[in-house]
Amino acid sequence: MNEPILKQIIDKYDTPSYVYDIEILKNRISYIRKHLPSRAKICYAIKANTFIIKDIEREVDRFEVCSPGEYEICKKQNVDESKILISGINKSKEEIDHVIETSNVRFFSIESMSQFEIFKNSSKKVELLLRLTSGNQFGINKEEIEEIITNRDNYSNIKLKGIQYFSGTQKTSIKVLRKELEKLDSFFKELKQKYNYEAEEFEFGTGFPINYFQGRDFDENEFFKEFSEIVDNLEYGGNIIFEIGRSIVASCGTYITKVIDIKTNKNQKYAIVDGGINHLVYYGQSMAMKVPYLEIHPSRENKEDERWNICGSLCTINDILVKQLPEKIELNDIIVFKNTGAYCSTEGISLFLSRDLPNVIKIDEDKSIKLIREKNSTFQFNG
Ligand SMILES: Cc1ncc(COP(=O)(O)O)c(C=O)c1O
Repeated sequence: MNEPILKQIIDKYDTPSYVYDIEILKNRISYIRKHLPSRAKICYAIKANTFIIKDIEREVDRFEVCSPGEYEICKKQNVDESKILISGINKSKEEIDHVIETSNVRFFSIESMSQFEIFKNSSKKVELLLRLTSGNQFGINKEEIEEIITNRDNYSNIKLKGIQYFSGTQKTSIKVLRKELEKLDSFFKELKQKYNYEAEEFEFGTGFPINYFQGRDFDENEFFKEFSEIVDNLEYGGNIIFEIGRSIVASCGTYITKVIDIKTNKNQKYAIVDGGINHLVYYGQSMAMKVPYLEIHPSRENKEDERWNICGSLCTINDILVKQLPEKIELNDIIVFKNTGAYCSTEGISLFLSRDLPNVIKIDEDKSIKLIREKNSTFQFNG
């Protein structure tokens, strides 16, 4: 982050803060589009970051919305209803009825046979994606999908739009992805041959990988090139929509935290920051074994031969953000953690020790800085 912008943010709003740069976000979506096959569409899984959905409404083709809370956020922000897919394993009849009665959202995924039961007698026309399980609590079995497809003519208000599949995130192995996609391709072929069913849509969420840690990078251009070749070679000829969270939004985010104390205990240097693991979540990070991309401000020319452990403000020895960082750290330094646009704000153990939730700040494309949620306390309750 450039110094003047950082200075403005610190002077005005202090730390800890999440900062989302909308220009970076939009450029990132253009990059992903450019590197995927031309028939590919993009669905943003809003669980990754619910603060920027309105900014990218025109840039993405769909939003995957997984809970009543996420749905309310979309409603509040007036998100285009035709772009919403209601997904997720916990959908009650009341919630679905509420959506159908109070909006024009008619697009849902099916995660269990009991969810399908809710739609069987729907009074309004709905479109469904059947989620194929990859062998966990999500989705339904192949045989159950076949059963639904066999009986599809009995459900006059249901359009079976296609298949959804998500088997995990951060796979960098093209070999693994090829195997997965080829298996799905065979499944589409089987559905055509056995039931004369052609899925109009295939929503695939592999959760594209991103580079979080220093020294552990993969070649993203090469990854997308090889991945796109696999997609281009599929026999399946319908629409393909990629369900992506992290890869869209991680790079636009920085998390800013301040060094509020320094000490040396038994020859180990510790910098205590006003944030911590309650705000900062990196996929694949465990006990700070890896070093995320970060900057120290003010930057120093002469890097000293020092090693610092950066720790948060929680009362647990697990609250380590970085171990043995080879930088010089001083009191009041600002540490800017990069690639924090995804899941930090939604996955952090934010209630731990009743510390404040960070500010949420947006840098708009014209470089104006907006506070979109003020740092607020977690200890207020009506008790
Ligand atoms: C069904 C589904 N789709 C998409 C995603 C997005 O994954 P990622 O944020 O890694 O891209 C997730 C993440 O948990 C998911 O559960």
